[in-house]
Amino acid sequence: MLTQIPENRTIPIDLTQDEFKKLGHQLIDRISELLYGIAEHPVTSGESPEKIQELLETGRNLPEEGMDPEALLNHACQLLFNHSLFNGHPKFWGYVTSSAAPLGILGDLLASGVNANVGAYALSPMATEMERQTITWIGEFLGYPAGGGLMVSGGNMANYVGFMASIRAKTGLDIRKEGLKNYPRTLVCYCSEQTHTWVHKAADLFGLGTEQIRWIPTLPDFSMDTKSLEMKISEDIKSDFLPFLVIGTAGTVSLGVVDPLEQISEICRKNQLWFHIDGAYGGLAAAVPEFEPGIELINRADSIAVDPHKWLYAPLEAGCVLVKDPAKLSDTFSYHPVYYNFDNAEVNYVDYGFQNSRGFRALKVWLTLQQMGKKGYRQLIREDILLARAAYELLSGTEEIEVFTWHLSITTFRYVPENLPGGLDESGKLEYLNLLNKELLDAIQAGGEFFVSHAMIGEIFVLRLCIVNFRTTIKDIKALPGFIVNKGKELNSALQFEGRIGP
Ligand SMILES: Cc1ncc(COP(=O)(O)O)c(C=O)c1O
Repeated sequence: MLTQIPENRTIPIDLTQDEFKKLGHQLIDRISELLYGIAEHPVTSGESPEKIQELLETGRNLPEEGMDPEALLNHACQLLFNHSLFNGHPKFWGYVTSSAAPLGILGDLLASGVNANVGAYALSPMATEMERQTITWIGEFLGYPAGGGLMVSGGNMANYVGFMASIRAKTGLDIRKEGLKNYPRTLVCYCSEQTHTWVHKAADLFGLGTEQIRWIPTLPDFSMDTKSLEMKISEDIKSDFLPFLVIGTAGTVSLGVVDPLEQISEICRKNQLWFHIDGAYGGLAAAVPEFEPGIELINRADSIAVDPHKWLYAPLEAGCVLVKDPAKLSDTFSYHPVYYNFDNAEVNYVDYGFQNSRGFRALKVWLTLQQMGKKGYRQLIREDILLARAAYELLSGTEEIEVFTWHLSITTFRYVPENLPGGLDESGKLEYLNLLNKELLDAIQAGGEFFVSHAMIGEIFVLRLCIVNFRTTIKDIKALPGFIVNKGKELNSALQFEGRIGP
């Protein structure tokens, strides 16, 4: 048997050192051409799925024989550079997806090069310490007294970790063994109607069921109505439910609103509930509290989710959960199977969350935190917020545009043509404007000049821009109102010509 194995392995997944260097240099050159010429690209190629599948030859079989790495990398660059949506484009303001810091991009390459498994200290001594330092620094930047935390893939995962920790902390250890099956009271949690949909998935996945989410109404400014919160909690206690968690949001996904964190924390204290903050988008704005006074009270939370891949401009993926007491994470997640030999370490990140093997996500954040310093990041976040405010002001001064909200770096507005179709009552007008603005959104998203998203304000369909983009300048913002009006006029004429008044 042994004689059949050659002295050296010949399957060429390993490149020679010279090949690796050549391909690496070529790739960096090509990526730099993309990044430093990104404004010349359309924001998106806007092609149909059929076209993308045709370019990729989706139906072809995996080749039996291996292929040339240089040709493969070139082909991948050609496909991706010419047929992608670029969230690093200066006019990309959709959803909450940031442009990626170039040093962070190199950080990801370096992390892959070392390929540390940051599940266990023994497997990643330096990487574990760098992650720990990154977590402490993120807390320090926000003014959150983090005893510990964990880097995860994004906001959803960071919120899940906080959610799980709250269940465990408020029910006791037996829940880990017995589950909710025999639990004497039904667990219920509270959040505002504006909370991101991660909470559906959490309640569903972790066995509560979505009916156990109490959706608290919001005030006219879209922040949580804490009077309703208090009332709902006491009603539930009377009905023998077990309230365990209130989720406040610092920067709601649609409008960027910050919930009244002080009142929520008081209610949690009085009722001994876990206070979790979803700060995936806006939590980092606690570093510039002048825009949303009260946001600095994120420091009251038992746990908070923040997303370096949003407002620290880390390349995807990088989320982070911070907790005051890291024992609450290990109490929730840690097991000690016989095949681990990790017990003599101070921290093994496998004990703090869902993952076993873990990549080195912290490195890109560790690098850019120091590249920018607190001062640099404060300035970048502040500028994004000021650009969103400038957009609000410019749009509000434009004929045929109606503005709605500006919070943090999110501004909402809609196009309202002078010449609406005749004979519409109020509800017909709403229906027509919703249809027109939805068509406008689709046209903008496919067109490649700008990229915005949408929000619902009550029944009203509005366009929404969210700036987490260090490449955006005031020149880009100034170009928006005229563009919206021109596109709006075009679509309004087409809709009226087609006679499509309702959906
Ligand atoms: C407030 C809020 N929470 C959670 C999320 C989910 O974050 P991720 O997409 O990183 O999982 C988002 C995403 O935009 C968000 O804005």
